[in-house]
Amino acid sequence: MFDIQKIRSDFPILSRTVYGKPLVYLDSGATAQKPLCVIEKVDELHRTLNANIHRGVHFLSEESTVLYEAARETVRQFIHAGSTAEIVFTAGATAGINLVAYSFGGRYIGEGDNVVVSEMEHHSNIVPWQLICQRKGAEIRVLRFDDDGRLCTEDLPGLLDERTRIVAVTQASNVLGTRPDLSYVITAAHAAGVPVLVDGCQGIVHGGVDVTALDCDFYAFSGHKLYGPTGVGVLYGKRKWLEEMPPFLGGGDMVGTVTFNGTTWAELPLKFEAGTANYIGAIGMAEAIRYVQRFDPEEIEKHGHMLLARVTEGLTRIPGVRIYGEMPDKCPIVSFTAAGTHPYDIGMILDKLGIAIRTGTHCAEPVMTHYGLTGMCRATFAIYNTPEEVDALVAGVERAVAMLR
Ligand code: ALA
Repeated sequence: MFDIQKIRSDFPILSRTVYGKPLVYLDSGATAQKPLCVIEKVDELHRTLNANIHRGVHFLSEESTVLYEAARETVRQFIHAGSTAEIVFTAGATAGINLVAYSFGGRYIGEGDNVVVSEMEHHSNIVPWQLICQRKGAEIRVLRFDDDGRLCTEDLPGLLDERTRIVAVTQASNVLGTRPDLSYVITAAHAAGVPVLVDGCQGIVHGGVDVTALDCDFYAFSGHKLYGPTGVGVLYGKRKWLEEMPPFLGGGDMVGTVTFNGTTWAELPLKFEAGTANYIGAIGMAEAIRYVQRFDPEEIEKHGHMLLARVTEGLTRIPGVRIYGEMPDKCPIVSFTAAGTHPYDIGMILDKLGIAIRTGTHCAEPVMTHYGLTGMCRATFAIYNTPEEVDALVAGVERAVAMLR
């Protein structure tokens, strides 16, 4: 049963007030709140288990290692990967994408090559590709979206050629909510012999993923948007790529043997996990995954759609409000502007009403540029948000707009 009050009681922070008003948290797209089971798990690990993994012969280290590797298996099952060798723990999606850009790009991208990136990407799926392309003398090609927020996937075949080394695309836009037709993108790219990296940050929260069915080559996401701890994430990579790619960071745990004549690498996935891993974060993230798995994904989806329909209807009634991203199957993410007002001012007024939204470029400046804007307001919804919170947002925006005009 999708019992919203019961769900809310799992998240201690939701019962706090800000400026004496009940918190209305509509910024889960930036970071989601944490259920008690995750908070308690992280606390318990620090109290009773803390010891470095893969290094000690002692009891705590052994136990910590077992839980860390069990977390990897939890992730594997959750995203339907074939093997834990393909699950690399990272500091977050940004770290995962940088890993691929640096390591895959370092090996396969050369002068005169190109990388295709969609126009609706978060900066973390643009800038790492710009960095490697600048270093290598390669070109970035942009797959555009139209004004409705639909990714023009039909343009992809025209962008691909024998010098295309990778396609980088989001599973769900963090501004427009759009879920591009990834099957089409991946099939078209593979037909041209080009691998695909998918940024799953928002998408994994709203519908999950089956990386095997999707057949993507890389998939990155963060724990903190999925009700887990900050500072931990996952990079899935097909084994054939991870085996061929050189390490990204060097250090402890990622080596076979080290001599001054040469060093060998650890087996996958440890080759890509240099240094002390965020094992408490990874185990905490596995707890968050188990929390999410308590719910029927269809119920989560239905709940998101209900909130999205309500907020869209409410905001559209306010004169001068424009919503960006109009795909019918979009994620519960609503970005908007109100004519004659600045997004920041709306955000500030809403804040004083206890309503937390995000304002600005949302780390997706090309999306702003597409619409000739410098910023938008954005409300993002999670499993714990209610229709009453949607109504509070709509009333708050109405009030802010009346004050500002
Ligand atoms: N990527 C996060 C967001 O969209 C920070 O807000």
